[in-house]
Amino acid sequence: MAELEQALADVAAEMAERVDRGEVATYIPQLGKVDPKKFGIAAVTNDGRVILAGDADQPFSIQSVSKVFTLTLALGKIGDALWHRVGREPSGNPFNSIVQLEHENGIPRNPFINAGAIVVSDVLLAGHQPREAIGEILRFIQFLADDETIIIDREVAASERATGYRNFALANYMKSFGNLHHEPELALGVYFHHCAIAMSCRQLAMAGRFLADGGRNPATGHSVVSAERARRIGALMLTCGHYDGSGDFAFRVGIPGKSGVGGGILGIVPGVASLAVWSPGLNENGNSKLGSIALEKLARTMNWSIFAP
Ligand code: DON
Repeated sequence: MAELEQALADVAAEMAERVDRGEVATYIPQLGKVDPKKFGIAAVTNDGRVILAGDADQPFSIQSVSKVFTLTLALGKIGDALWHRVGREPSGNPFNSIVQLEHENGIPRNPFINAGAIVVSDVLLAGHQPREAIGEILRFIQFLADDETIIIDREVAASERATGYRNFALANYMKSFGNLHHEPELALGVYFHHCAIAMSCRQLAMAGRFLADGGRNPATGHSVVSAERARRIGALMLTCGHYDGSGDFAFRVGIPGKSGVGGGILGIVPGVASLAVWSPGLNENGNSKLGSIALEKLARTMNWSIFAP
Protein backbone atom coordinates (compact mmCIF):
# COMPACT_ATOMS: atom_id res chain seq x y z
CA MET A 1 0.00 0.00 0.00
CA ALA A 2 3.00 2.30 -0.22
CA GLU A 3 1.66 2.71 -3.71
CA LEU A 4 -1.55 4.28 -2.36
CA GLU A 5 0.35 6.68 -0.11
CA GLN A 6 2.42 7.77 -3.07
CA ALA A 7 -0.67 8.11 -5.27
CA LEU A 8 -2.41 10.39 -2.75
CA ALA A 9 0.69 12.50 -2.22
CA ASP A 10 1.17 12.83 -6.00
CA VAL A 11 -2.43 13.82 -6.65
CA ALA A 12 -2.38 16.42 -3.82
CA ALA A 13 0.87 17.90 -5.15
CA GLU A 14 -0.53 18.05 -8.66
CA MET A 15 -3.79 19.69 -7.54
CA ALA A 16 -1.87 22.32 -5.55
CA GLU A 17 -0.35 23.53 -8.84
CA ARG A 18 -3.66 23.94 -10.67
CA VAL A 19 -4.72 27.47 -11.52
CA ASP A 20 -8.20 26.76 -12.87
CA ARG A 21 -9.93 25.56 -9.69
CA GLY A 22 -13.62 26.20 -10.52
CA GLU A 23 -15.94 28.59 -8.70
CA VAL A 24 -16.75 28.47 -4.99
CA ALA A 25 -20.54 28.36 -4.36
CA THR A 26 -21.85 31.77 -3.31
CA TYR A 27 -25.63 31.17 -3.33
CA ILE A 28 -25.18 30.12 0.30
CA PRO A 29 -23.27 33.24 1.41
CA GLN A 30 -21.34 31.48 4.18
CA LEU A 31 -19.86 28.98 1.69
CA GLY A 32 -18.51 31.84 -0.42
CA LYS A 33 -16.00 32.68 2.32
CA VAL A 34 -13.98 29.48 1.89
CA ASP A 35 -10.44 29.67 0.45
CA PRO A 36 -10.50 28.10 -3.07
CA LYS A 37 -6.87 27.01 -2.71
CA LYS A 38 -7.74 24.36 -0.16
CA PHE A 39 -7.37 20.73 -1.19
CA GLY A 40 -7.56 17.62 0.94
CA ILE A 41 -7.84 13.91 0.25
CA ALA A 42 -8.22 10.85 2.48
CA ALA A 43 -8.42 7.10 1.94
CA VAL A 44 -9.50 4.67 4.64
CA THR A 45 -8.86 1.12 3.50
CA ASN A 46 -10.92 -1.87 4.56
CA ASP A 47 -7.81 -3.27 6.24
CA GLY A 48 -7.71 -0.20 8.50
CA ARG A 49 -5.17 2.15 6.97
CA VAL A 50 -5.87 5.89 7.04
CA ILE A 51 -3.90 7.75 4.39
CA LEU A 52 -4.12 11.53 4.14
CA ALA A 53 -2.73 14.30 1.95
CA GLY A 54 -3.17 18.08 1.78
CA ASP A 55 -5.80 19.70 4.02
CA ALA A 56 -7.33 16.35 4.95
CA ASP A 57 -7.92 17.30 8.58
CA GLN A 58 -9.66 20.61 7.95
CA PRO A 59 -13.46 20.52 8.35
CA PHE A 60 -15.62 21.79 5.49
CA SER A 61 -19.37 21.96 4.89
CA ILE A 62 -20.39 18.50 3.65
CA GLN A 63 -23.67 19.80 2.16
CA SER A 64 -25.22 17.17 -0.12
CA VAL A 65 -22.75 14.46 0.87
CA SER A 66 -24.89 14.25 4.02
CA LYS A 67 -27.71 12.88 1.84
CA VAL A 68 -25.97 9.48 1.74
CA PHE A 69 -26.30 9.24 5.52
CA THR A 70 -29.86 10.58 5.74
CA LEU A 71 -30.91 8.13 3.01
CA THR A 72 -29.30 5.30 5.00
CA LEU A 73 -31.18 6.36 8.14
CA ALA A 74 -34.51 6.76 6.32
CA LEU A 75 -34.18 3.29 4.76
CA GLY A 76 -33.49 1.96 8.24
CA LYS A 77 -36.64 3.65 9.47
CA ILE A 78 -39.22 2.83 6.76
CA GLY A 79 -37.38 0.47 4.38
CA ASP A 80 -38.68 0.10 0.84
CA ALA A 81 -41.76 2.22 1.66
CA LEU A 82 -39.44 5.15 0.96
CA TRP A 83 -39.68 4.35 -2.74
CA HIS A 84 -43.36 5.29 -2.79
CA ARG A 85 -42.32 8.86 -2.05
CA VAL A 86 -38.97 9.18 -3.85
CA GLY A 87 -37.79 7.68 -7.14
CA ARG A 88 -34.54 5.95 -8.06
CA GLU A 89 -33.77 7.48 -11.42
CA PRO A 90 -31.17 10.06 -12.36
CA SER A 91 -32.85 13.38 -13.02
CA GLY A 92 -30.55 14.74 -15.71
CA ASN A 93 -31.33 18.15 -14.21
CA PRO A 94 -29.55 20.47 -11.77
CA PHE A 95 -29.69 19.55 -8.07
CA ASN A 96 -32.22 22.28 -7.22
CA SER A 97 -34.48 21.90 -10.26
CA ILE A 98 -38.28 22.00 -9.89
CA VAL A 99 -39.34 21.15 -13.47
CA GLN A 100 -39.97 17.40 -13.14
CA LEU A 101 -42.01 17.71 -9.96
CA GLU A 102 -45.14 18.98 -11.71
CA HIS A 103 -45.24 16.16 -14.27
CA GLU A 104 -44.35 13.55 -11.70
CA ASN A 105 -46.93 14.47 -9.03
CA GLY A 106 -44.52 15.83 -6.48
CA ILE A 107 -42.43 12.61 -6.38
CA PRO A 108 -38.77 13.60 -6.71
CA ARG A 109 -36.65 11.55 -9.09
CA ASN A 110 -34.13 10.39 -6.49
CA PRO A 111 -33.07 10.95 -2.85
CA PHE A 112 -30.00 13.03 -3.74
CA ILE A 113 -31.54 15.97 -5.62
CA ASN A 114 -32.70 18.62 -3.17
CA ALA A 115 -36.39 17.73 -3.51
CA GLY A 116 -35.68 14.06 -2.76
CA ALA A 117 -33.49 14.87 0.22
CA ILE A 118 -36.20 17.16 1.64
CA VAL A 119 -38.64 14.21 1.51
CA VAL A 120 -36.01 12.07 3.26
CA SER A 121 -35.75 14.77 5.97
CA ASP A 122 -39.54 14.68 6.29
CA VAL A 123 -39.33 10.89 6.83
CA LEU A 124 -36.69 11.36 9.55
CA LEU A 125 -38.90 13.93 11.24
CA ALA A 126 -41.72 11.42 11.89
CA GLY A 127 -42.33 11.15 15.63
CA HIS A 128 -39.68 13.75 16.43
CA GLN A 129 -39.18 17.42 17.01
CA PRO A 130 -36.79 18.87 14.39
CA ARG A 131 -34.00 19.20 16.96
CA GLU A 132 -34.30 15.48 17.84
CA ALA A 133 -34.20 14.44 14.18
CA ILE A 134 -31.15 16.64 13.62
CA GLY A 135 -29.49 15.13 16.70
CA GLU A 136 -30.20 11.62 15.44
CA ILE A 137 -28.55 12.37 12.09
CA LEU A 138 -25.50 13.96 13.73
CA ARG A 139 -25.08 11.07 16.18
CA PHE A 140 -25.37 8.53 13.35
CA ILE A 141 -22.58 10.25 11.43
CA GLN A 142 -20.44 10.52 14.58
CA PHE A 143 -21.00 6.81 15.17
CA LEU A 144 -20.06 5.88 11.59
CA ALA A 145 -16.92 8.02 11.71
CA ASP A 146 -16.15 6.93 15.29
CA ASP A 147 -15.66 10.61 16.09
CA GLU A 148 -17.79 12.63 18.52
CA THR A 149 -16.10 15.92 17.64
CA ILE A 150 -18.13 16.28 14.41
CA ILE A 151 -20.48 19.27 14.65
CA ILE A 152 -23.11 21.22 12.76
CA ASP A 153 -21.98 24.66 11.59
CA ARG A 154 -24.94 26.77 12.75
CA GLU A 155 -23.80 29.79 10.74
CA VAL A 156 -23.92 27.78 7.52
CA ALA A 157 -27.39 26.45 8.41
CA ALA A 158 -28.64 29.98 9.15
CA SER A 159 -27.04 31.33 5.98
CA GLU A 160 -28.78 28.69 3.89
CA ARG A 161 -32.14 29.19 5.57
CA ALA A 162 -31.93 32.95 4.98
CA THR A 163 -31.38 32.46 1.24
CA GLY A 164 -33.11 29.12 0.65
CA TYR A 165 -35.92 30.36 -1.56
CA ARG A 166 -35.62 27.50 -4.03
CA ASN A 167 -35.69 24.86 -1.35
CA PHE A 168 -38.76 26.53 0.19
CA ALA A 169 -40.34 26.44 -3.27
CA LEU A 170 -39.55 22.73 -3.68
CA ALA A 171 -40.88 21.89 -0.22
CA ASN A 172 -44.08 23.92 -0.64
CA TYR A 173 -44.68 22.40 -4.05
CA MET A 174 -44.28 18.84 -2.75
CA LYS A 175 -46.50 19.67 0.22
CA SER A 176 -49.25 20.64 -2.22
CA PHE A 177 -49.07 17.11 -3.68
CA GLY A 178 -49.22 15.57 -0.21
CA ASN A 179 -45.63 14.32 -0.38
CA LEU A 180 -44.52 16.14 2.78
CA HIS A 181 -46.15 14.98 6.01
CA HIS A 182 -44.88 17.90 8.11
CA GLU A 183 -44.86 21.63 7.56
CA PRO A 184 -42.28 22.61 4.91
CA GLU A 185 -40.59 24.86 7.47
CA LEU A 186 -39.92 21.86 9.77
CA ALA A 187 -38.67 19.45 7.09
CA LEU A 188 -36.40 22.22 5.78
CA GLY A 189 -35.07 22.86 9.29
CA VAL A 190 -33.84 19.27 9.37
CA TYR A 191 -32.55 19.51 5.79
CA PHE A 192 -30.59 22.76 6.25
CA HIS A 193 -28.95 21.47 9.42
CA HIS A 194 -27.77 18.13 8.02
CA CYS A 195 -26.36 19.92 4.98
CA ALA A 196 -24.45 22.20 7.40
CA ILE A 197 -22.57 19.36 9.11
CA ALA A 198 -18.85 20.11 8.98
CA MET A 199 -16.37 17.26 8.49
CA SER A 200 -12.81 16.78 7.36
CA CYS A 201 -11.82 14.39 4.57
CA ARG A 202 -10.54 11.99 7.24
CA GLN A 203 -13.88 12.04 9.09
CA LEU A 204 -15.90 11.68 5.89
CA ALA A 205 -13.84 8.74 4.60
CA MET A 206 -14.20 7.09 8.02
CA ALA A 207 -17.98 7.59 7.92
CA GLY A 208 -18.17 5.95 4.46
CA ARG A 209 -16.40 2.75 5.51
CA PHE A 210 -19.58 0.69 5.82
CA LEU A 211 -20.34 1.24 2.14
CA ALA A 212 -16.91 -0.07 1.11
CA ASP A 213 -17.25 -3.25 3.17
CA GLY A 214 -20.63 -4.72 2.30
CA GLY A 215 -22.55 -2.75 4.94
CA ARG A 216 -20.14 -3.59 7.79
CA ASN A 217 -17.83 -1.37 9.73
CA PRO A 218 -14.54 -3.02 8.73
CA ALA A 219 -12.88 -2.00 12.01
CA THR A 220 -15.41 -3.80 14.23
CA GLY A 221 -17.11 -6.22 11.83
CA HIS A 222 -20.46 -4.88 13.06
CA SER A 223 -23.22 -4.54 10.51
CA VAL A 224 -24.57 -1.03 9.81
CA VAL A 225 -26.85 -2.07 6.94
CA SER A 226 -27.32 -5.31 4.99
CA ALA A 227 -24.92 -6.06 2.13
CA GLU A 228 -27.82 -5.67 -0.30
CA ARG A 229 -28.65 -2.21 1.06
CA ALA A 230 -25.01 -1.11 0.84
CA ARG A 231 -24.94 -2.21 -2.81
CA ARG A 232 -28.14 -0.32 -3.54
CA ILE A 233 -26.92 2.89 -1.90
CA GLY A 234 -23.78 2.53 -4.02
CA ALA A 235 -25.91 2.13 -7.15
CA LEU A 236 -27.79 5.35 -6.34
CA MET A 237 -24.52 7.18 -5.71
CA LEU A 238 -23.19 6.05 -9.08
CA THR A 239 -26.32 6.97 -11.04
CA CYS A 240 -27.51 10.07 -9.13
CA GLY A 241 -24.68 11.21 -6.81
CA HIS A 242 -23.43 13.98 -9.09
CA TYR A 243 -26.81 15.21 -10.44
CA ASP A 244 -26.62 16.07 -14.14
CA GLY A 245 -22.90 15.29 -13.96
CA SER A 246 -23.46 11.70 -12.75
CA GLY A 247 -22.87 10.07 -16.12
CA ASP A 248 -19.65 11.98 -16.60
CA PHE A 249 -18.41 11.07 -13.12
CA ALA A 250 -19.19 7.37 -13.70
CA PHE A 251 -17.47 7.54 -17.09
CA ARG A 252 -14.36 9.28 -15.79
CA VAL A 253 -13.98 7.83 -12.30
CA GLY A 254 -15.92 4.56 -12.41
CA ILE A 255 -16.86 4.32 -8.72
CA PRO A 256 -19.92 5.45 -6.72
CA GLY A 257 -19.54 9.02 -5.50
CA LYS A 258 -21.57 11.70 -3.76
CA SER A 259 -20.74 15.37 -4.09
CA GLY A 260 -21.68 18.48 -2.15
CA VAL A 261 -21.56 22.19 -3.01
CA GLY A 262 -19.05 22.67 -0.20
CA GLY A 263 -16.62 20.95 -2.60
CA GLY A 264 -16.51 17.55 -0.92
CA ILE A 265 -16.92 14.16 -2.59
CA LEU A 266 -17.29 10.78 -0.89
CA GLY A 267 -16.11 7.94 -3.15
CA ILE A 268 -16.50 4.23 -2.51
CA VAL A 269 -14.26 1.48 -3.89
CA PRO A 270 -16.25 -1.62 -2.91
CA GLY A 271 -14.12 -4.19 -1.11
CA VAL A 272 -11.15 -1.82 -0.94
CA ALA A 273 -11.56 1.66 0.53
CA SER A 274 -13.67 4.70 1.35
CA LEU A 275 -12.34 7.95 -0.11
CA ALA A 276 -13.03 11.60 0.57
CA VAL A 277 -11.73 14.60 -1.32
CA TRP A 278 -12.29 18.30 -0.84
CA SER A 279 -11.63 21.28 -3.09
CA PRO A 280 -14.15 24.14 -2.77
CA GLY A 281 -14.19 25.28 -6.42
CA LEU A 282 -17.06 23.74 -8.39
CA ASN A 283 -17.58 22.79 -12.04
CA GLU A 284 -20.62 23.74 -14.12
CA ASN A 285 -22.73 20.98 -12.50
CA GLY A 286 -21.99 22.17 -8.96
CA ASN A 287 -19.57 19.33 -8.23
CA SER A 288 -16.00 19.84 -7.00
CA LYS A 289 -13.85 20.50 -10.03
CA LEU A 290 -10.49 19.40 -8.68
CA GLY A 291 -12.11 16.78 -6.46
CA SER A 292 -13.47 14.99 -9.53
CA ILE A 293 -10.15 15.29 -11.35
CA ALA A 294 -8.26 14.01 -8.31
CA LEU A 295 -10.52 10.96 -7.97
CA GLU A 296 -10.22 10.29 -11.69
CA LYS A 297 -6.43 10.32 -11.45
CA LEU A 298 -6.34 8.25 -8.28
CA ALA A 299 -8.71 5.63 -9.72
CA ARG A 300 -6.60 5.38 -12.86
CA THR A 301 -3.34 5.04 -10.92
CA MET A 302 -4.77 2.41 -8.58
CA ASN A 303 -6.75 0.67 -11.34
CA TRP A 304 -9.94 1.17 -9.31
CA SER A 305 -13.31 0.86 -11.03
CA ILE A 306 -16.44 -1.09 -10.26
CA PHE A 307 -16.15 -2.20 -13.88
CA ALA A 308 -12.60 -3.53 -13.53
CA PRO A 309 -12.38 -7.34 -13.86
O1 DON B 1 -29.87 22.69 -0.72
C1 DON B 1 -28.81 23.10 -1.17
O2 DON B 1 -28.76 23.78 -2.17
C2 DON B 1 -27.55 22.71 -0.43
N1 DON B 1 -27.78 22.60 0.97
C3 DON B 1 -26.99 21.39 -0.90
C4 DON B 1 -26.78 21.31 -2.40
C5 DON B 1 -25.62 20.47 -2.80
O3 DON B 1 -24.72 20.20 -2.04
C6 DON B 1 -25.55 20.11 -4.22
N2 DON B 1 -24.30 19.44 -4.49
N3 DON B 1 -23.49 19.47 -5.29
